[in-house]
Amino acid sequence: MNTLKLMDGLNRHIDYLRLSVTDRCDFRCVYCMAPEMKFLPKHQLLSSEEIIRVVRLFVEMGIKKVRLTGGEPLIRQGVVKLCRQIAVLPGLNELTMTTNGSHLALWANELAGGGVKRINISLDSLCQNTFKVMTRVGNLQSVLAGINAARQAGFASIKLNSVILKGINDHEVLSLVDFAVDHGIDISFIEEMPIGRVGRSRQEDYYSSDEVFQQIIQRYRLIETVEQTGGPAKYLRILDYPLTRIGLISPHSHNFCSSCNRVRVTADGRLLLCLGHENSLDLCNLLRDSSVTDSQIQDAIRVALWRKPEKHELYTYDEEFRPVRFMSAVGG
Ligand code: GTP
Ligand code: 5AD
Ligand code: SF4
Repeated sequence: MNTLKLMDGLNRHIDYLRLSVTDRCDFRCVYCMAPEMKFLPKHQLLSSEEIIRVVRLFVEMGIKKVRLTGGEPLIRQGVVKLCRQIAVLPGLNELTMTTNGSHLALWANELAGGGVKRINISLDSLCQNTFKVMTRVGNLQSVLAGINAARQAGFASIKLNSVILKGINDHEVLSLVDFAVDHGIDISFIEEMPIGRVGRSRQEDYYSSDEVFQQIIQRYRLIETVEQTGGPAKYLRILDYPLTRIGLISPHSHNFCSSCNRVRVTADGRLLLCLGHENSLDLCNLLRDSSVTDSQIQDAIRVALWRKPEKHELYTYDEEFRPVRFMSAVGG
């Protein structure tokens, strides 16, 4: 087994792998997808065996946290079995998942029993109409049922994710915090990132974490912390409500790239070194070539990491130079 730490060319220690198990989703969120999406043909998606192999190789190299994402991970057949197999890999500290919640009522118990420690659930609105505007096709009630099922299932923590868009759901910041507080769970507010051409102007809807913060302090007393969950959120505690943390994810207003600890594997097996760049290594080809050994793949990963970009430049690029792939193929 390889025991060197996984480092990138800028001396950042990489210990977090985000892996998208499918690019498909039953929602069409306005910040994530175009109204008409074409998904990858199924044979291009990594098989379960390929996913387990690639995760094992990363864990052997020192990855401690794996987050399964999508598209919507719960619409991939056999995802619970996949979780069970990943969760027991020696050396892995934490298997987590990010879901839109629509199928969670069905799967929450099995996921928690299958080794998923923490779960992040997207929730942009508590109003059926706005929820429909944001997700285009989503059903709020099924997500709320999913959140309740998750609360019963015994995850170590549950975090809501809310992408806030000016003029669409910015008036719901306080109700979303109230909801998180009432349910004793965490919530992160996310600035929209310009990834994929989604058919609307993102600039007009931009709403900063600072504006979110200003709203919340009208009702709650917030305390800054240095707490970390391994992701990009800065966390605040709320006085008198110890069960809820507020996360602010601010790729636009407060760049966090210098402390980046993660890489991504897309649903079709590309190792993506940064969310905001196209640099990648085609792991799928390596995995499907029977003459390529585990240690050759690990060597290729180490070499690729040397090329991990210093930072995303999502907000300085012109539209035409921005990544053309969609967030759903990458997993956020
Ligand atoms: P935990 O900290 O483990 O709870 O997870 P997380 O917040 O990293 O994961 P989640 O899947 O819930 O993602 C929340 C938001 O953070 C999404 O909008 C992601 O796209 C965004 N995000 C995660 N990692 C990065 C990153 O490296 N760069 C940028 N720009 N955004 C990221
Ligand atoms: N900008 C910011 N967050 C996004 N997500 C999806 N697309 C975007 C985007 N363009 C969020 C989802 C989900 C997480 C995986 O990423 O809301 O919570
Ligand atoms: Fe689906 Fe998540 Fe994209 Fe919404 S943000 S369309 S739920 S992958």
